[in-house]
Amino acid sequence: MRGDNHSESAEDQRTAFYNDVVAGLSQDQKTLPCRWLYDQRGSELFEAITDLPEYYPTRTEVSIFKQHLPAMAAAIGEQAHVVEFGAGAGTKTRLLLDALVAPKSYVAIDISADFLASSMASLAAAYPSLEVIPRVGDFMQTAEMAAMQLPEGNRLAFFPGSTIGNLLDHEIITFLRSVRAALDNNDLGEDGKFLIGFDLVKSEDILVPAYDDAAGVTAAFNLNLLARINRELDGGFDIDGFTHEARWNEQDGRIEMHLVSRREQTVGVNGDTFSFKAGETIHTENSRKFKMEGFRELAAEAGWTFKETWTDDQDYFAVSLME
Ligand code: AVI
Repeated sequence: MRGDNHSESAEDQRTAFYNDVVAGLSQDQKTLPCRWLYDQRGSELFEAITDLPEYYPTRTEVSIFKQHLPAMAAAIGEQAHVVEFGAGAGTKTRLLLDALVAPKSYVAIDISADFLASSMASLAAAYPSLEVIPRVGDFMQTAEMAAMQLPEGNRLAFFPGSTIGNLLDHEIITFLRSVRAALDNNDLGEDGKFLIGFDLVKSEDILVPAYDDAAGVTAAFNLNLLARINRELDGGFDIDGFTHEARWNEQDGRIEMHLVSRREQTVGVNGDTFSFKAGETIHTENSRKFKMEGFRELAAEAGWTFKETWTDDQDYFAVSLME
């Protein structure tokens, strides 16, 4: 998931990356956690993906916000304390803040203090009357979230972008519980709400090109992971020895990104070696596409009920307000 592994020091980060690479490439189905896709270059490529003609999620979600924000703002109520997980503070945050009636504060929770400081500064400048509160913490740790001191009142968790779809089911439930723990504990007795965006199941003809675009930007995004291993971990990947593949896994309702070895090869990473057969893959990301009912059930398991849901004309994407 984006933004969930900015550890304290560059050295810690490198060690965590190295451990994940060794563990992931030692499995039968080789795998690498998708959070490592987002170094500087990967984040730039992801931004470029969101503008691609084939990549419908960002555009569709923004259109849902633009069309339904007045209704969302009415359902959320006045004087909200907006709590975002992973210091986003992007376009959608601003759209929401502009639509809300007299929002009181914006709290961003992220594991990296540096990342928080930089993204909060521009938001504070743009919204001088809003209290902008950075909070360092790991939002996958329920106990840590329960102990988090948030401002009292009308608390709204905000998690757009369908980033939740990059988690596995058990991680989704942990995350949703964790958000509840952070929002509960309100002395004023007001229930917290959660505005969340998630992507819906649709035709494979739409899904696969969204993750395998004609211009090759998603391929570059995926292959950058190997380049990152070369840059940061003294890896010996021949980037041209791998191709990008986006697969629709119907059974699990997810698009999977893989890196496919073009030939039999052995690759060294910092003294370790990993062998690849021709056609063998490294599984680098899952992107869940939910059925409305499936998402509702996962949310219910974590104690959330749907209050209202907004979708686009084609039912490509959904934004739900839960409580
Ligand atoms: C960040 N996340 C919601 C994106 C997605 O659609 O799952 C990441 C992405 N991977 C390939 N393209 C976009």
